[in-house]
Amino acid sequence: MTSGTMFSLHSLLILLSFSATKVLSCSRVTYHAGVDDRITAGRSMDFVASTNSSMYIFPAGLQRNGSIGENSKSWTSKYGSMVTTMYDMVSIDGMNSEGLTGSLLYLGNSDYGARNTSRPGLPIGFWLQYFLDLYPNVAAAAEALQKENLQVVTKALVPGVSSTAHLALSDKSGDNMIVEYLDGKMVIHHGQQYPVMTNDPSFDDQLTLNTYWGPISNVSLPGTGSPAGEFWLAYAQKSPEIVERHANDYLIIDRFVRLSYYNSLAPESKDLMTSVATTAAMIRAVSVPFVPESQINTGLDIWPTLWRVYQDSKDMVYFYESSMVPISIYMKFSDYDLSSSGKIMRLGLAEESWEDLYGDMNGKFTNATAFIPLGAGG
Ligand SMILES: *[C@@H]1O[C@H](CO)[C@@H](O)[C@H](O)[C@H]1NC(C)=O
Ligand SMILES: *[C@@H]1O[C@H](CO)[C@@H](O)[C@H](O)[C@H]1NC(C)=O
Ligand SMILES: *[C@@H]1O[C@H](CO)[C@@H](O)[C@H](O)[C@H]1NC(C)=O
Ligand SMILES: *[C@@H]1O[C@H](CO)[C@@H](O)[C@H](O)[C@H]1NC(C)=O
Ligand SMILES: *[C@@H]1O[C@H](CO)[C@@H](O)[C@H](O)[C@H]1NC(C)=O
Repeated sequence: MTSGTMFSLHSLLILLSFSATKVLSCSRVTYHAGVDDRITAGRSMDFVASTNSSMYIFPAGLQRNGSIGENSKSWTSKYGSMVTTMYDMVSIDGMNSEGLTGSLLYLGNSDYGARNTSRPGLPIGFWLQYFLDLYPNVAAAAEALQKENLQVVTKALVPGVSSTAHLALSDKSGDNMIVEYLDGKMVIHHGQQYPVMTNDPSFDDQLTLNTYWGPISNVSLPGTGSPAGEFWLAYAQKSPEIVERHANDYLIIDRFVRLSYYNSLAPESKDLMTSVATTAAMIRAVSVPFVPESQINTGLDIWPTLWRVYQDSKDMVYFYESSMVPISIYMKFSDYDLSSSGKIMRLGLAEESWEDLYGDMNGKFTNATAFIPLGAGG
């Protein structure tokens, strides 16, 4: 797509010098098709500058290590995976050969705690990758987390941009897990009832806010009788404490509530196409159009949507669509060797011309090596 950077790195840095702490937001949903146990995951990436994304194929049998010094977690991948990266430094979205899908989404509140070398450490760039490499489903990942006491280690992506995220995992059975680090402690929400994740506030607060919004979603959301803002103000009078904490978060809460609502109403899908289309329709509806640079950092936490991915864990197909250029691609797992005899392959989405990024990408990947994860080096 020869990148078409939305905002140059220069303007990004100027922006940050005005102390913006949030520079990305995103939305994720797992849609249960209702028949044939089909689960399709979808996510948007809203960010201030091009993410220079690549697709990677990682086979089973890869030796991995966190490269963060003492007590760095190391492992050998049991499962192959297909992932989307940011800057070839972070596995930000992906699915493994068992149909476990996962995404990292921005969470400004995250606090992973000061490095404690008596806990195994994982660089944030491989946080998601660790789960895709080792676990076939959410239950197995949850069990491992109870035992391991992992600590995520992060690093600024570009100077001043905090790289703090929470993690969502989902599997073929419709199980989900949200993992956050708050005040240095890991907080987990595990179950089928958690198919939606957006950004701040923390997931607990999102759930609390959604108990208010859920029942009035049918009358309070865009496209219904009243705009969300009026209800937010009414809520502000009822629960000033929580509102005060999240005075600037209402647009994110809006995405959480809308996605939860759309997902609760989504009709059944009987095949791959309908299921992906249903998921895409929801994720597109919480996407953000381009905004003029002058409007960025004026108080609203709004960033344009740059791309979206959809992963279908029944047919094992991975879709990527850009909103910076009109491209849409897919990869079928059956076309790639994810076994331990496979090779690491890469497709640099920011390097290909947009005309080449249409349809099936089988045959377009080239041999590659693993990237050094963000957070490595301490
Ligand atoms: C993204 O790619 C562009 C074009 O190659 C480059 O100028 C820019 O520095 C890259 N951004 C980052 C953060 O790596
Ligand atoms: C960690 O991985 C890197 C990159 O694959 C490799 O160069 C390095 O030797 C590994 N270190 C250990 C201790 O395994
Ligand atoms: C470091 O982690 C160990 C193991 O979880 C724990 O017992 C210890 O209290 C932690 N140290 C600090 C300073 O938090
Ligand atoms: C909205 O949903 C609530 C709860 O399900 C219901 O009581 C109410 O009648 C609905 N309002 C409209 C306008 O459909
Ligand atoms: C990748 O490398 C293998 C040898 O390791 C070679 O057989 C294969 O042709 C290469 N594939 C591509 C697309 O370059």
